Order: sequence, then structure tokens, then C-alpha cells
Amino acid sequence: MTTRTIITGTGHYVPPRIVTNHDLEKLMDTTDQWIRERSGILERHHVDAGVGTSDLAVEAARRAIAEAQIYPATIDFVVAATLSPDHYFPGIGVLVQAKLGLGTIGALDVRDQCSGFIYALSAADQYIRAGTYKRILLVAAEVQSTNLDFSDQGRDMSVLFGDGAGAVILEPNPNEDDRGILSTHLYADGNFVSQLWMEKPCPKDNPTFQRSFFDEGRFFPKMDGRTVFVNACQRMPEAVRAGLVQNGLAIEDVDVLIPHQANDRISLMVAKGLKIPVEKVIRNIDRMGNTTAASIPIALDEAVKAGRIRRGSLVALTAFGSGFTWGSAFIRW
Ligand code: COA
Repeated sequence: MTTRTIITGTGHYVPPRIVTNHDLEKLMDTTDQWIRERSGILERHHVDAGVGTSDLAVEAARRAIAEAQIYPATIDFVVAATLSPDHYFPGIGVLVQAKLGLGTIGALDVRDQCSGFIYALSAADQYIRAGTYKRILLVAAEVQSTNLDFSDQGRDMSVLFGDGAGAVILEPNPNEDDRGILSTHLYADGNFVSQLWMEKPCPKDNPTFQRSFFDEGRFFPKMDGRTVFVNACQRMPEAVRAGLVQNGLAIEDVDVLIPHQANDRISLMVAKGLKIPVEKVIRNIDRMGNTTAASIPIALDEAVKAGRIRRGSLVALTAFGSGFTWGSAFIRW
């Protein structure tokens, strides 16, 4: 059997400040009822001033490292996924590496938005199986609350998103058993770029930063919610089915499905489309909102800690997001 990649530690961190739907009612023309009914979200976490994505990532990474019971110095590569890096450049991979004191190991930044964790997991899996690296820290983190439009104009977006981070430690399976990442499937369709994006800043503008863009609110993320909704409900089941086919599995074999937490109605539609009992679906968007790349590793860590994922469990992950990008991963825990 070829060596598979196993996850030896998981961790997550969310900033302590909770923002409820009622808090948002004070900022814009919205209601707790609308947000609950349309998204399933009750509250989300927002950072306080001065806290960046790499800070959340480092906390999540420390927790995953502690759970894996490893010395940080034995990590030989970092993969980081985010759409909200601390700086325009460089990405957060190097900041995580430096803040954790990981020497001069390489740090790869992955930019695939809500699908970022699955894309990053796929890349890390290839490195491990090829023997290139032996212990990878994969961290996905987001600070979105600092660039959302909390006016009435931005209410369709700003009520959905939250801040947070999740991390995993990846290593080759040392044993002759079937544990590990079984498959990853990645997809994209760049024809949908402007359906879910942050248009500006855009270096093809000269100069990149123009006051009129601020005045027009073009530095805020925007989406066509309906199109995103419809495509997410279609693409995530497709990606899961591709994994089932490749692995010769049936949906009944899946013990736990973790869909990207975009909207609880989307998660329920994905479950329905796949005909998987809703009890097998991890849903934490009520407390987290949509944390983009961080949503799957946060949910994964919670599911592991709650005992919903155990040794031998078959775990399916699926995500959909800006790009559009989407994908799935199957893991024998
Ligand atoms: N509070 C109150 N009303 C709101 C609102 C808010 N926060 N946001 C939007 N509305 C209003 C709109 O202005 C619109 O009003 P109108 O009908 O008078 O024009 C109405 O609600 C839209 O209702 P509807 O089209 O029925 O909403 P919906 O059921 O499509 O839900 C989303 C909207 C955004 C929740 C939904 O489309 C969605 O979740 N899309 C996917 C978003 C997503 O997951 N993005 C990230 C992907 S990774």
C-alpha cells in the first residue's frame, strides 16, 4: 500500500468577541429573524483592533501542535490558506513560520477562498506522499470583519461572515493500514469571478488605490447571493460523488460529512442532494458564521473533540467558494 497522509493533530481558535445578530441589528437594517431564517447564523466572532489573520493562525497552530504532541522544530513545511492576509503581500505563511519560530522552512500560501483548506490539504498530501516533507503544518485563517460593509448596502454579505482559524498537522502514516487521506478532487470555473469577489484593490488600475473606489465601496467584498447559493448546492455534492466513485464507496459508508459552512440552508441542501442523514453532517455555522478557508478545519477540530470523528471514521469534506472554486476530500481517520 502506498503511504497515505494522516492528520495527527487538529486545533482551532476564534477571537473571544462574539457578535450576535442583535448586535448587527443596531448597525444596519436587518433582523435576527431574517439572518436566522436565511442563513442559520445566530452569532459569529470578530477580532478586536490590532489582531491579524496570522495571530489567529498561530493560536490554532499551537493547539494542533499540542494535540499532535510534537516539537514545533520537527515541522518541515507550512501551508497557509486565507483570503484575508495581514498584508497585501507577503502572505501569512511566512508570518506563521516566524511567529512559531520554525527556522527557515518553506511556507506556501494558498489562495482559493472558501475552498482554500481543501486545496491546501491536496497540495500538502502530494508533498507527504511524494516524500518531500514529513511533517506539515496546514493552517487556514481569516479576519473578515475588518473589511465588511456594515451599512444597509452591505447587509447581504456582512451578516454572514466571521473570523477564526483552524489547523492540522499532516504526516505519513507509519503503519500498514488504510488510515489517511484517500482522495482530493479540486475544481474551478473562473467565468464566475465577479459573482463573489473583492474587486479592488486591483494592480491593473493605475494607481491601484483610488479615492473614488473607496467612495463607491468597491473595496468591500460583493456577491450575487442567489448564483452562489445555486452553484454551491450543485457543486459540493458533485465533488463528493467524484470522491465516492474514485474510492469505490457509497454515501452510506460516510460517517461524517463536513461541508464548508457557507449557509446552513446550503449545508442542508447538500445533505439532501447526497441523501446523507443530516445527523452525519457537521453544522456549526450558528455559532461561527462563514469563516471562509477556516470553516472546515474549525468544524473538523470541533467534531474530533466532540467524539463525532473517531479512529476508523470515514470523513468527507467539501467546499465551495469564490473563483468559483470547489472540491472534496475523503479521509479515513
Ligand atoms: N437583512 C435583511 N434583509 C436582507 C439582508 C439582511 N442582512 N440581506 C439581504 N436582505 C434583503 C435583500 O435586500 C432582498 O430584499 P428585496 O427582496 O426587497 O430586494 C432580500 O433580502 C433578498 O431575499 P432573498 O433573495 O429571498 O434572500 P435569499 O434567500 O437568497 O438569501 C443569502 C440571501 C445571501 C442569505 C443567500 O443568497 C445566500 O446564502 N447565498 C450564498 C451566500 C454565500 O454562501 N456566500 C459565500 C459562499 S462561500
